[in-house]
Amino acid sequence: MLLVHTIQDLQTHLASLRADNRTVGLVPTMGALHDGHASLVRRCVSENDVSVVSVFVNPTQFNNKEDLQKYPRTIERDAALLEQLGVDLVFNPEPDEMYSEQEMHRQFAFDFGGLDTVMEGKMRPGHFNGVVQVVSKLFRLVSPQRAYFGEKDFQQLAIIRRMTRLMQFSVEIIGCPIVREASGLALSSRNERLSEQERTTAVNISRILMESRTLTLSMNTRQVEQWVTDQVNAVEGLEVEYYQIVDQTTLMPTNTWQHAIGCITVYCGPVRLIDNIKYDL
Ligand code: PAJ
Repeated sequence: MLLVHTIQDLQTHLASLRADNRTVGLVPTMGALHDGHASLVRRCVSENDVSVVSVFVNPTQFNNKEDLQKYPRTIERDAALLEQLGVDLVFNPEPDEMYSEQEMHRQFAFDFGGLDTVMEGKMRPGHFNGVVQVVSKLFRLVSPQRAYFGEKDFQQLAIIRRMTRLMQFSVEIIGCPIVREASGLALSSRNERLSEQERTTAVNISRILMESRTLTLSMNTRQVEQWVTDQVNAVEGLEVEYYQIVDQTTLMPTNTWQHAIGCITVYCGPVRLIDNIKYDL
């Protein structure tokens, strides 16, 4: 496995790796890798001749400086894991390798078609502009045949699908299911910041989401939204930021259970956790 930090090294090595028309898969990450990331990487390795993983804490998608500074950086451990998983090339650039001064400070413009006005987009203004900016750059630099994203960040996945269509990238976007702990808690780099007590409390989020799937015959979408919000808020130490049941493609509020997904953001103490559940299975 090769670990490179510059665009030039990335492209030199990619050129030789992709000789003889070998297929290339890409998994974009911000590092601090866990089993959720590993599931994307395993799938990438199994479906492509060459697997590239980017590890880059992208400054333009953080709307909170402290959050950016606090984001865990564990490249040595990450590289060891990626090597074990059979990755060929890891791209780990510094911000000034990816962005000019101007790009760093001006918001990247993109027509989200409304996908950014709800949920995470509404709560974290500019966040998805930064995500689209970095992922479109990575697509241009790597030109992968396939790229892998987790359904844990369901809104991000929907936005990347739209970006790929609008910008006409010839890459297949592959959405991968949420990986959970045995307790049900969705794996996240942010879980590391939970105390033992908070971790036990956080398990209630997925428990309540799962339970809400049994209510779809007796309640409508708005009633279940309220039910989940009330149940989670009733747990000491949890506070719902939003819970919305939306259409899986448009992300607009929906009144039918078909193609519906519920997306939640909850504060568990100081830590902001996200999760989601599909209702049409
Ligand atoms: P990051 O949070 O590092 O996540 C990288 C990928 O791993 C994302 O596609 C995310 O959805 C997926 N992932 C995280 N936890 C998961 C879990 N429990 N189960 C399944 N997949 C999971 O998302 C980002 O980085 C950035 O926004 C990025 C796309 C890299 C752009 O900077």
